[in-house]
Amino acid sequence: MSKLPNTGTSIFAVMTAIAAECKAINLSQGFPNFNPPAKLIDLVYHYMKSGENQYAPMTGTYQVRKAISEKIKKYSHAEYDINDEITLTAGGTQALFTAITAFVGKGDEVILFEPAYDSYLPSVILNGGIPVPVQLKGNDFHIDWDEVNDKISEKTKMIIINSPHNPSGSVLNEKDISALKYIAKKHDIIILSDEVYEHIIFDGREHHSVTKYPELAAKSIVVYSFGKTYHTTGWKMGYVLSPKNLMSEFRKVHQFNVFTVNTPVQLAFAEMMKDEKHFLSLSNFYQEKRDYFLKIIKNSEFTFEPSSGTYFQLLNYSAISDESDSDFSVRLAKEFGVAVIPLTPFYSLPNDRKLIRICFAKTNDVLEQAAEKLMKVK
Ligand SMILES: Cc1ncc(COP(=O)(O)O)c(C=O)c1O
Repeated sequence: MSKLPNTGTSIFAVMTAIAAECKAINLSQGFPNFNPPAKLIDLVYHYMKSGENQYAPMTGTYQVRKAISEKIKKYSHAEYDINDEITLTAGGTQALFTAITAFVGKGDEVILFEPAYDSYLPSVILNGGIPVPVQLKGNDFHIDWDEVNDKISEKTKMIIINSPHNPSGSVLNEKDISALKYIAKKHDIIILSDEVYEHIIFDGREHHSVTKYPELAAKSIVVYSFGKTYHTTGWKMGYVLSPKNLMSEFRKVHQFNVFTVNTPVQLAFAEMMKDEKHFLSLSNFYQEKRDYFLKIIKNSEFTFEPSSGTYFQLLNYSAISDESDSDFSVRLAKEFGVAVIPLTPFYSLPNDRKLIRICFAKTNDVLEQAAEKLMKVK
């Protein structure tokens, strides 16, 4: 019997295969088509050559945990203990799965917001938990906190938030944080905060990390990914922050499903994190790409609200077609040569929003080629 009877091949694999078959420009899966900083690659090579090729401690190397604790202290004014409250993981997805496995058991309810990053729901189900989806509302994909409060029950164990948000590009604001504080005060619920796009936020908005609010941080497991920040999605490395009482449970699972992650890469990131310019300039770097792409598709039949964060942009095709988003995406790849992601796979609830997601973490020549093709879609 399948543990995930309703799960097929992920939409990312499906669209990537169609893109390859049709030789389409691939704006589907979220990854940059450019390299990480040369210095970072040199650092990995350096640590490999100098013999740092064996298991790191289960929690991560001291050097990278120290660099992380200093960064969070400087930018969130939060104290995370180097030994007890920081753990390196094999990317954000493993961190999410481990956190859910450590805390969610049979019959526990988990509130998540749809559209949702596709790993949340199966991770809850695999652990016997019950996903309680809440749809994000309006063109700005905001949270209806009244609905969240209505859906909280005695069985609610966890709430998963994600800001900046994949796939909508929406970000949480101060009002959202107040609503979350109210919930955290009233209920004994763990917050799983997916902040992998923390450094990709536009138009001067502030990233409201839960780590900045002690009453939230006390109940939160916060997930980060070096892949998004350093253009290294294929290296699969991230980390988790949480108070000691939550981290000790997280580590009980982590030690048996991963134990420890790539030593020379951790040491390289520890060194690279000292160069603050890289992550401090990331928002501008991606905002320029967003603006350029939206400028060159401005006169197309697609409509859009500029993304507030992440390297994703939603496009509305309702002026072009009545097709479902999956049919439209397949046709876009086959007839027009651009592979995108439909929004339906991010929902378990019915949705008919006529939206597709594109990834603009691409060099300008690729964005131009894609725009030229998208302009022809009528
Ligand atoms: C919202 C969100 N969370 C987590 C991840 C996973 O990050 P990683 O590639 O480090 O596993 C992604 C990657 O696409 C994401 O979009």
